[in-house]
Amino acid sequence: MAHRWTNTLTRNDVTEERLWLNRRQIMAGLGGMAVAGLAGRAGAAEGLEPNSYEEITSYNNYYEFGTGKDDPARYAGDLTISPWSVKIDGMVDKPGEYGFDDILSKMTLEERIYRFRCVEAWSMVVPWTGFELADLLTMAGVKSGAKYVAFETVLRPDEMPGVRYNVLDWPYVEGLRLDEAMHPLTIMATGIYGRDIPRQNGAPLRLVVPWKYGYKSIKSIVRITLTDTQPPTSWNKANPNEYGFYSNVNPQVDHPRWSQATERGIGGGLFAKRKDTLMFNGYDEVASLYEGMDLTVNH
Ligand code: MTE
Repeated sequence: MAHRWTNTLTRNDVTEERLWLNRRQIMAGLGGMAVAGLAGRAGAAEGLEPNSYEEITSYNNYYEFGTGKDDPARYAGDLTISPWSVKIDGMVDKPGEYGFDDILSKMTLEERIYRFRCVEAWSMVVPWTGFELADLLTMAGVKSGAKYVAFETVLRPDEMPGVRYNVLDWPYVEGLRLDEAMHPLTIMATGIYGRDIPRQNGAPLRLVVPWKYGYKSIKSIVRITLTDTQPPTSWNKANPNEYGFYSNVNPQVDHPRWSQATERGIGGGLFAKRKDTLMFNGYDEVASLYEGMDLTVNH
């Protein structure tokens, strides 16, 4: 599949941990893929120091395992992630159940260092390994007339202690407009620092949309549906006044209960200076997707 995105950061800009490509991803590499995309133009994560593997994998939001930041690392260990398959259905030419290893063998894996901004006003920089969602959708064949993509997380009450509580309406669901889903910045992540993505971060594959708040980045995906109507999203269902469908990072719009203007980098220490939050999280190249839309109304 074509590479339409590049990143200026070289491998030397990331700490040592990235050097270990795990077996699966090396095997995947033998199947015609390369972990590439490490030279080229400036990205929004340019010059930023990636968070450590430890920070990225111990401070998480994955409410199926509890609402505390350390609950996912503590309780996600029992989630069965192999075998895994993703059902792709709705307005596609080739609907079906796609095995995870089969998907991996057909996709181009790349390492991409993305800024990640949470609605709670903290942020991280994460070196993901993944492939473009567009490539997966193209493989399934998007039918004309499809306008949105809906995503669903696995729901396994026996393995997910948090779903006993009705904090959200399970399963976790999310959605993108088709052009957002097809944008080359939108990836399905399968690794962090070149290792298989850990369960608490959404193993074996999760969405990453770097210009939107982190909650759009749905974890452990088992279903992707192409549709012509705007799909429901978990946080919007739970609290429509606070969480809109688009959920673009927009520092000018306050969350009803707190400001979105600044953010705290995880790992910077309690007294680290807060950073100004950037529109679209700094990914200006997506601005054209929203031309003519009022992003305070469509928040
Ligand atoms: N996906 C599922 N299935 N369940 C969740 O609770 N939380 C979201 C998102 N994806 C969540 C989810 C939120 S609020 C955030 S900020 C990110 O995951 C956190 O991703 P991370 O733990 O890898 O940093």
